[in-house]
Amino acid sequence: MKAYRITPGAGLQSLERVELKSAPLAAREVRVRIRAVSLNYRDLMIATGSYPLPAGFSPIAASDGAGDVLEVGSAVRDFKVGDRVVTTFFQTWPSGERPANSGHLALGGAIDGVLAEEVVLSQHGLLPIPAHLDYLEAATLPVAAVTAWTSLFVAGRAQPGNTALLLGTGGVSIWALQVAKAAGLRTVITSSSDEKLERARGLGADETINYRTHPAWEQEVLRLTQGEGAHVTVEVGGAGTLARSVAATRAGGTIALVGVLTGVAADFNPFPLLFGAKSLTGILVGSREHQAQLQRLVETKQIRPVIDRVFSFAETPAAYAHLQSGQHFGKLVIAMG
Ligand SMILES: NC(=O)c1ccc[n+]([C@@H]2O[C@H](COP(=O)([O-])OP(=O)(O)OC[C@H]3O[C@@H](n4cnc5c(N)ncnc54)[C@H](OP(=O)(O)O)[C@@H]3O)[C@@H](O)[C@H]2O)c1
Repeated sequence: MKAYRITPGAGLQSLERVELKSAPLAAREVRVRIRAVSLNYRDLMIATGSYPLPAGFSPIAASDGAGDVLEVGSAVRDFKVGDRVVTTFFQTWPSGERPANSGHLALGGAIDGVLAEEVVLSQHGLLPIPAHLDYLEAATLPVAAVTAWTSLFVAGRAQPGNTALLLGTGGVSIWALQVAKAAGLRTVITSSSDEKLERARGLGADETINYRTHPAWEQEVLRLTQGEGAHVTVEVGGAGTLARSVAATRAGGTIALVGVLTGVAADFNPFPLLFGAKSLTGILVGSREHQAQLQRLVETKQIRPVIDRVFSFAETPAAYAHLQSGQHFGKLVIAMG
């Protein structure tokens, strides 16, 4: 079977198409024919070496896949041949507190991922696909959608009528916009592009801010929220945006620290956080239970993810390059053919 491996830190040119033997199947494992894979910014970070991983292993790339069950081990009770399934990012975090070593079993990093015609995974690392989604759509769920969910509703404890601040129009932020609107939140979203902001309005964004034409965009957020700020901010920017995100979040609100799009090194003044009694919470995707909760909302509200572009398996390097360009709106997906 065909797969792509990537060598962490060796750049996009290290993406290598390989031919592998099918893996053996243990009693509690499921063999899945992968039909679609979605890319995340993490996949770029792994390629460029800015994602912490043990050296010396070139995993099968990417973490988010959807497909159908080809074979089940003798002790598998949750799935049968033909079921449509989607992967979970962590293979060993069912629910509750995150196990300290769960990072060792996150797909497409310390262990092999899903950019392959066929994968063998624990039955606990899979969930059924919401009935209204196709494979391409389902492949967008495991990282971007679950991170949006845990940021807004687990860390942020958002309630209907609360205001959510979302930065940029990439995979996490557009998923956050969709689940926030479905749950009755008011949304403020930023982008470098007026055209992308117009598309965000089409998805229900209540307020939009171009962060290029408004470099002090936190002032705009305050203006649009009568000086109060957002109840929860999904902070995907990292060092370059964190201080503004803290300023744009209301007293007692939550900044869900998700990403590092602008880097990791910054001077940080703790006073605005402290005197506003605001919570700054690191997010690491979520558990299988979090994904199940998110999927229930997606199914109940019949949410369909925004897919910017679909690439073929052979076009995988072009898909990575497109992600790196930042031109996309929402998610990029590879169809396995
Ligand atoms: N901690 C976790 O569990 C977790 C999970 C998922 C993702 N992440 C992280 O979250 C970040 C986003 O991931 P993603 O997959 O959504 O990335 P993505 O799809 O590549 O998003 C890229 C978009 O981010 C926006 N952006 C870039 N710089 C910005 C800035 N200075 N201010 C506001 N927006 C900016 C741009 O939107 P415009 O073109 O509209 O300007 C860009 O198109 C990454 O750092 C990723 O590693 C973390």
